[in-house]
Amino acid sequence: MTPPHRSAALRATMDPTLPSFRDASELLENDLKTPRRSPRLHSSSTGISKPYKSPFARQPSVNSLGSRLALTHLPGQKRRSTTAITPLRNETSGERSGPTATSPLRSARNTAATTPRSSKSFINPAPLPPLDDCDSGDYRFSSSQGSIDDFDFCGLTPEAQHIYKQKRGITQLYDWQKACLSDDRVRRGDNMIVCLPTGAGKTLVAEVLMLREAIIHKRNSLLVLPYVAIVQEKMTSLSVFEKAFGIHVEEYAASKGRLPPIKRRADTRSIYVATIEKANMLINSLIETDRLDDLGLVVVDELHMIGDGSRGARIESLLTKFMHKGRGQAVGISATLTNMDELAAFMRAFVYSTEFRPVELVEIIKIGQRLLQVDKKTKELKHYADLPPNALASRDPDGICQLLQQVIPRHSAIIFCPTKKNAENVAVMIAKAVPKQMRDVRKSERQALIEMIREEGDGKCEETLERCIEAGVAWHHSGLTHDERKHVEAAYVSGILCVLCATSTLAAGVNLPARRVIIKAPVVGRDRLRKAQYLQMIGRAGRAGFDEKGEAVTILRPGPEERMFREMLAHEEMRCESALAEPDELSSLILDLLSLKVATTVAGLETVLARTLLVQQKGAEEVKSRMSAVLDCLAAQQLVQHMQQPLRQLPQQKVLVVTEVGAAAFGASVAPADSCLLLKDLMASLSTGVNFSSHLHLLYIVAPYDLSCNVDWDLYYKEFTSLPDSEKILLEASGISMQRIISQITKRAPLEAGDSALRLYIALLMQHVWRQEPAAAVAAAFSVERGWLQAALQSTVAHAAAIARFAERLPSTLWPLKLLLPELVSRLSDCTRPELNTLLRLDLVKRSRAAQLHAAGYKTITDVAHANVEVMREKVENLGRYQAMKIVQSAQALLRDQIDEKLEEMEEMGLNAEQIEAMRRTMV
Ligand SMILES: Nc1ncnc2c1ncn2[C@@H]1O[C@H](COP(=O)(O)OP(=O)(O)OP(=O)(O)O)[C@@H](O)[C@H]1O
Ligand SMILES: [Mg+2]
Repeated sequence: MTPPHRSAALRATMDPTLPSFRDASELLENDLKTPRRSPRLHSSSTGISKPYKSPFARQPSVNSLGSRLALTHLPGQKRRSTTAITPLRNETSGERSGPTATSPLRSARNTAATTPRSSKSFINPAPLPPLDDCDSGDYRFSSSQGSIDDFDFCGLTPEAQHIYKQKRGITQLYDWQKACLSDDRVRRGDNMIVCLPTGAGKTLVAEVLMLREAIIHKRNSLLVLPYVAIVQEKMTSLSVFEKAFGIHVEEYAASKGRLPPIKRRADTRSIYVATIEKANMLINSLIETDRLDDLGLVVVDELHMIGDGSRGARIESLLTKFMHKGRGQAVGISATLTNMDELAAFMRAFVYSTEFRPVELVEIIKIGQRLLQVDKKTKELKHYADLPPNALASRDPDGICQLLQQVIPRHSAIIFCPTKKNAENVAVMIAKAVPKQMRDVRKSERQALIEMIREEGDGKCEETLERCIEAGVAWHHSGLTHDERKHVEAAYVSGILCVLCATSTLAAGVNLPARRVIIKAPVVGRDRLRKAQYLQMIGRAGRAGFDEKGEAVTILRPGPEERMFREMLAHEEMRCESALAEPDELSSLILDLLSLKVATTVAGLETVLARTLLVQQKGAEEVKSRMSAVLDCLAAQQLVQHMQQPLRQLPQQKVLVVTEVGAAAFGASVAPADSCLLLKDLMASLSTGVNFSSHLHLLYIVAPYDLSCNVDWDLYYKEFTSLPDSEKILLEASGISMQRIISQITKRAPLEAGDSALRLYIALLMQHVWRQEPAAAVAAAFSVERGWLQAALQSTVAHAAAIARFAERLPSTLWPLKLLLPELVSRLSDCTRPELNTLLRLDLVKRSRAAQLHAAGYKTITDVAHANVEVMREKVENLGRYQAMKIVQSAQALLRDQIDEKLEEMEEMGLNAEQIEAMRRTMV
């Protein structure tokens, strides 16, 4: 993704004569012979009862947000006057500088010229009232006042500081960042929770802490992030430090990340960037291999997710294990925590919290044509302005186009919609409303984007999406493939697209900025919008480095919707409840602890569990009794060896032993309850026999239980009837008979996830993928979105890999699967031309690119790693410099990993340091 400072520059280089949504409406007005309205006119002339203030007009500085520092000290925690953070000097006054007359955004906007009217446009001619009528505050320091020395205390070398300046445009830390990073408690390794509003620069603090850990303390770090997309974004942004510091930034997401991690040379450190699930697996494997002490720091970004079902339970488990067994620092980061005391007690952390937000965020509610502003402190709604009538009411009843006026194309907007379909419809509606002149903006780059999406889609791009992109609009949701989303994001960040219609996943996902965020309805899917989601969504508006101001508008219908929203705003607490309260989750943690021998007795388990959030919330006695129940259940499931007496009567020091199946469940990261079902199913499949006339039967065995999709019954019938008799017979033995399928077809009733008939349907679909048919064609044939297909394939690969690990640890019963599945997993993950498989391991290399590289002579990872970027660009058509660089870098990283793995093996074989170093030199 384009770095922030680059995107700002790109936006600034946009042709200042470009029309805007507002310009277009003004043109319509001109045409109607109404006098042209100056944006600086008093609102009475625009039909709005608020005076207009230019968004870029400098306002007197307001010191309302920045300097309140709330520090919570835990009972029993030493509070040394020398180390306590005193309220910041003043984060909002003094050396502040906001956008000046030279601000590129400002100058572009001020010089906007008129353009001829588009007769096709049906945009409401009335301009939108300004949403910027509150005191602006820019709490950033100007770059001119920034000093490189500012980073010195962090322990970062001048090289790192230059990287921050050059690659990120960050010349100076915010006061709170400085105070936090120089705090003695942080420096001596105390645990910490950082809680500040969205966009305050929290993740940057995590980054500096990790670099410091590598450079000064010479230990590895683990950064836990919620989604694969964010892991990948962070990988890119951290990779710029790799060479400067000789550190490795290692990805643990989706199918990436070796377990246990590669042992690096003595002088190099790693930063592991992981999803929640992979982070838990990484901690387990470090404990298993007795290497947890190599880990000096664990940072959990978006700590509030700890209350989020089984993903939350994984966070709590990994932190509990690390804090109990490890000797490093744990840091939690969040913008939306309320029960801070409980979380701080759980982590034995001090809390660092201020209300600082570098870019002003104005929260507006739109009810009909009324605009209300949310009071920052009281959360009450006060009248803000009235919009003129919505001339597009029939096509745009929510008045979204009105809200885009004055924003696009100079600035950007994200519109959060309740569903994927709705996001697409809104994008189409806006695209139709965009006047001709705005379609001509960055036309060739938009065409290039369409081409890139076509390349991803085996030559096809949905026609409606094409039309939208031509108008500078796109949708962004899980129906798009991962790479399509990446292209859309990059185009949006660089200003090629100016409106994204997204679902809620974007809010917690990538760091996409928006001048104006519009929430189309306070609904997510069928549920009502929760406060945490609301804060995440509006937090996308006004990000430092992108915009000088942010505005969030939520559209509400009067009546119950408005009432519920007001209640949510004023009252809804976002307590993080321990997800270990769910017996299955507690059971997973207990099985982990016993398998890893972190605890081996009842007393040992009690000691570790005493460190959980669950104990903070439910009390020790309650947790003990839950633990007893879980242990009894684990024994009944034969995952822990049966104890002669009920647990209550067991001596505290009685050793608890995990059975072979329990160890397999732990090793495969399968939940204890699921492992019993899985074993039963696998044994049943093996005892009836596996048909090897094709891979269908194996694909059926590994089809995930939690995948669901709409079944095309006619296609199902066709696929089923064309199976060879031998396969039908075997499937019948597994409970999927012809009669059952026919009866389902006649009923046309939806199938539930996990139903054997649905798993067979998914296996039939996967068989087409297995045969390397183009993904777009398979998706079209089965009427599923390509994004869904991609996610389904990933989940099938993950499930197959888990079964392979499960079978590996149960060789006496599951030996055929132990032998068969590794090959299936590896081929399924590279479902494409086998000779291209190696190249597909490189970042940004898809099937078509792999074919191009192969044809150009880059046949192995080593070929690519040694390639000259410019030569490669000459040989490979349509390869941008950035892409080529990323591909070569990724090949170098892979090669380096392979070399380190070999050296690790040699070390294990007993070679001494000198011999290994000599070997390394020859390999490099
Ligand atoms: N000291 C700084 N000077 C200038 N820009 C900064 C500084 N610190 C962070 N930023 C920029 O501000 C933006 C938001 O930073 P960051 O992602 O760290 O915020 P955050 O608090 O983690 O936000 P969220 O809660 O949404 O995750 C980023 O684009 C980042 O590069
Ligand atoms: Mg963040």
